[in-house]
Amino acid sequence: MEKPKVVLGVSGGIAAYKACELLRRLTESGHDVRVVPTEASLNFVGAATWSALSGNPVSTEVWESVHEVPHVRIGQAADLVVVAPATADMLARAAHGLADDLLTNTLLTARCPVVFAPAMHTEMWEHPATQENVATLRRRGAVVIEPAVGRLTGVDTGKGRLPDPGEIFEVCRRVLARGPGARDLAGRHVVISAGGTREPLDPVRYLGNRSSGKQGYALARTAVARGARVTLIEANTGLPDPAGADVVRAGTAVQLREAVLKASADADVVVMAAAVADFRPAAYASGKIKKKDGQEPAPITLVRNPDILAEVAADRARPGQLVVGFAAETDDVLANGREKLRRKGCDLLVVNEVGERKTFGSEENEAVVLGSDGGETAVPYGPKEALADTVWDLVTARFG
Ligand SMILES: Cc1cc2nc3c(=O)[nH]c(=O)nc-3n(C[C@H](O)[C@H](O)[C@H](O)COP(=O)(O)O)c2cc1C
Repeated sequence: MEKPKVVLGVSGGIAAYKACELLRRLTESGHDVRVVPTEASLNFVGAATWSALSGNPVSTEVWESVHEVPHVRIGQAADLVVVAPATADMLARAAHGLADDLLTNTLLTARCPVVFAPAMHTEMWEHPATQENVATLRRRGAVVIEPAVGRLTGVDTGKGRLPDPGEIFEVCRRVLARGPGARDLAGRHVVISAGGTREPLDPVRYLGNRSSGKQGYALARTAVARGARVTLIEANTGLPDPAGADVVRAGTAVQLREAVLKASADADVVVMAAAVADFRPAAYASGKIKKKDGQEPAPITLVRNPDILAEVAADRARPGQLVVGFAAETDDVLANGREKLRRKGCDLLVVNEVGERKTFGSEENEAVVLGSDGGETAVPYGPKEALADTVWDLVTARFG
């Protein structure tokens, strides 16, 4: 079988060196990669590196190998174009349809999905010119991955950092797999909670649960690849941030509730995949609880935590907002799931059976997605990503 053809555009940002890792991931996973750098980017990484790592010729201008008409052919033949890093200048040139080098010509001739991974200083990213260019590119069908927050060139920190190359690769892999119709969540804001809350007893102990957050992260990664603006509210996962998602940290059920309510104010869909503790200790000991000779430990009194899913479902922040819940059950799975769907008032409920190899911590899952319209969609045992895509399929079908 022919290898999928990927064009890796590299523009002149300090993060250009990180594109070497993205290139390696793409070639090692069986893609034929043609690197098309801008002239400015060669100040950061030279053409020899791209040529040796990709095994393909490298040029920046349309005037080389003219008999092969590269300014048209490279874009036409591509199955995916990814520009990483994408400078403010590159976004502007792409948004305005300029064709003054090989990469911008390629962007105009490509009919395949296009992914931009911008990286720049926060001021450049937040400038209305850049934001309008990003909005234009998204409107036209490109996946523009939100930059990460973190250390920038020099001592600055803020939004504008290139996401981890492994995570950009994950977006590319998913966009390639879904093809040109991939962006069915474009223009939508999705809020996803993931992980498990920890309810503190004292400064060193907490009551927690076994949720790893992997299903919520799979939902976030697939949603980014489908073009959504994603807010991921994570509780104690320790997982790497998915490229393109705005990640908000929350430790306890109360913090998670606050973060979910804030983020869902303008959300089209809220997916509560986090395992939120039903109860928390009634009292928090500010010093470590000590064992005392000859004394039994004092019992722990619990109080109820807020029911975030029921609250979000009952109090939709905007008309038409969809709410998706998760239920992990050990017995009478479907009957309990149907009852929970009714009780919580959500639109979809993903019911999984907790068991060995399934659900907590594993890479795979198996579930039935129940709909408030009576629909039941069985998702066979497989990667959590497949279940995530089924959830988005059911969500987009409800958007109509
Ligand atoms: C050291 C250095 C680092 C730079 N880093 C960035 C960056 O991260 N993002 C960006 O948009 N521009 C950055 N620039 C500015 C771009 O290189 C400049 O806008 C250039 O014209 C981009 O050309 P290109 O888009 O054709 O690659 C940097 C410039 C220098 C000198």
